[in-house]
Amino acid sequence: MNQAVKKNNIYFHQHSPASADMMKEIHQGLSKKQKSISPKYFYNEKGSQLFDSITQLPEYYPTRTEVGLLKAHASEFAELMGKDSILLELGSGSSIKIRLLLEALKPKIYVPMDISEEHLIRSAERLAKDYPWLEIHATCVDYSKPWQVPDFGPGRYNAFFPGSSIGNFEPADAQKLLTQIAKLVGKQGGLLIGVDLKKDSNTLESAYNDKQGVTAEFNLNLLHHLNEQRDVDFDTSQFEHKALYNLDKGRIEMHLVSKENQEVQIEDKTYHFDVGETIHTENSYKYSPDEFHALAHKAGFSPEKVWIDEKNLFSIHYLKVFE
Ligand code: TRP
Repeated sequence: MNQAVKKNNIYFHQHSPASADMMKEIHQGLSKKQKSISPKYFYNEKGSQLFDSITQLPEYYPTRTEVGLLKAHASEFAELMGKDSILLELGSGSSIKIRLLLEALKPKIYVPMDISEEHLIRSAERLAKDYPWLEIHATCVDYSKPWQVPDFGPGRYNAFFPGSSIGNFEPADAQKLLTQIAKLVGKQGGLLIGVDLKKDSNTLESAYNDKQGVTAEFNLNLLHHLNEQRDVDFDTSQFEHKALYNLDKGRIEMHLVSKENQEVQIEDKTYHFDVGETIHTENSYKYSPDEFHALAHKAGFSPEKVWIDEKNLFSIHYLKVFE
């Protein structure tokens, strides 16, 4: 853990430089039979902006449903988590969600964590302006690697992981991540986590395939982002977005489909794409409440309570570390 830098009342902690082995990972992903690129490269500044637009789309039900649940139950969450706690947030911090929770909970310390440094700083600065009483420790982390947060001594630690981002991990990795969160919050610690529910494929597929094409643009932005690197040159007009629900695996899959036979040159390697061949860019696993409880249990959490909206679209779980 590096020394914290204090700027405008925000402590900034830089952990795991995000792009260190980016090129190595890209080569590995594109060398597999089913080509893939890690979804973490979605989130440059443009990607984060596009993602914010996705959350407002009529087809994309998760965000507004989760926000509705947070609004309806904020004081109950605060009661369960306890006042004066130390609140760790995994993910962006730019949204209305964290504000609802901060206002209800009034934590002593707030630790937003994100992979996109610019996004992290920008949202921490906005929050610092609106909540001058709050001590903020912005921490840059890559969840796919082991990470740490600064130690704030004894206290009640709670983590907040909204947006069903847990669904973007393979179940085995999700379990590892939850285990890491359990360690982080320690005994008596808790986790408030948003999890998208299983439902009919039509609703799911249109949520990831909106009419305006914002999700398509978001998916393609991955290639634009990679093209910013030296010696990466995708012809972005030769790929298109596809999203499908894989019923067997209980997940939405996002792909970039090659529109023709083509070669892509990356550093000293050439990758061939057949027409119709895809780069798998993201999964979004959907969990029934029982399935999620089973996963959480394997990570050392016991279910405390779960809230679900009237239409059965989305769930929020409060979990506690068991001894
Ligand atoms: N975790 C959310 C989900 O899977 C948000 C998200 C991550 C997302 N990547 C995405 C939404 C790509 C749309 C497209 O729904």
